[in-house]
Amino acid sequence: MIRIILISVFTAFTVSSCYYDNYQELYPQQGSCDTTNVTFSNDVWPVINGTCTGCHSGSAPSGNVSLSNYSEIAAAAGNGSLMGTIRHEAGYSPMPKGGGKLTDCEIKKLEIWIANGTPDN
Ligand code: HEC
Repeated sequence: MIRIILISVFTAFTVSSCYYDNYQELYPQQGSCDTTNVTFSNDVWPVINGTCTGCHSGSAPSGNVSLSNYSEIAAAAGNGSLMGTIRHEAGYSPMPKGGGKLTDCEIKKLEIWIANGTPDN
């Protein structure tokens, strides 16, 4: 009888710890921000194109700032206005105008892209 109890306790413990290990392996990014391999095309362009180009493109872009391609976005990153406006820093007009601030994860990815030297990748 004691042996059966010991075996079932051991089995329950082993099975639950296996499940936990697998969960960690299968969902490593659950609830966190995946900042491995940040690229312009996968991480930067979708955010800018989704939240900024509506106003910042075309023949008369808002604030005379166009953000419709790589070189324009890299230029805004280089002069500080991209992160200044996105982080709502003093001295910059908070962007996206009239919309919610970008998520911490989106901002972090932009920061990493800039820290990497704004590669066109
Ligand atoms: C609804 C329209 C709209 C959207 C969306 C928008 N902007 Fe703007 N943006 C403006 C206007 C209008 C100005 C001119 C300054 C002002 O009115 O605040 C401006 C100005 C700017 C400037 C120059 C102002 C400064 O302080 O340097 C930058 C840089 C900028 N926007 C970046 C962005 C970025 C990055 C996004 C996306 C995260 C974005 N904007 C989204 C309308 C918009």
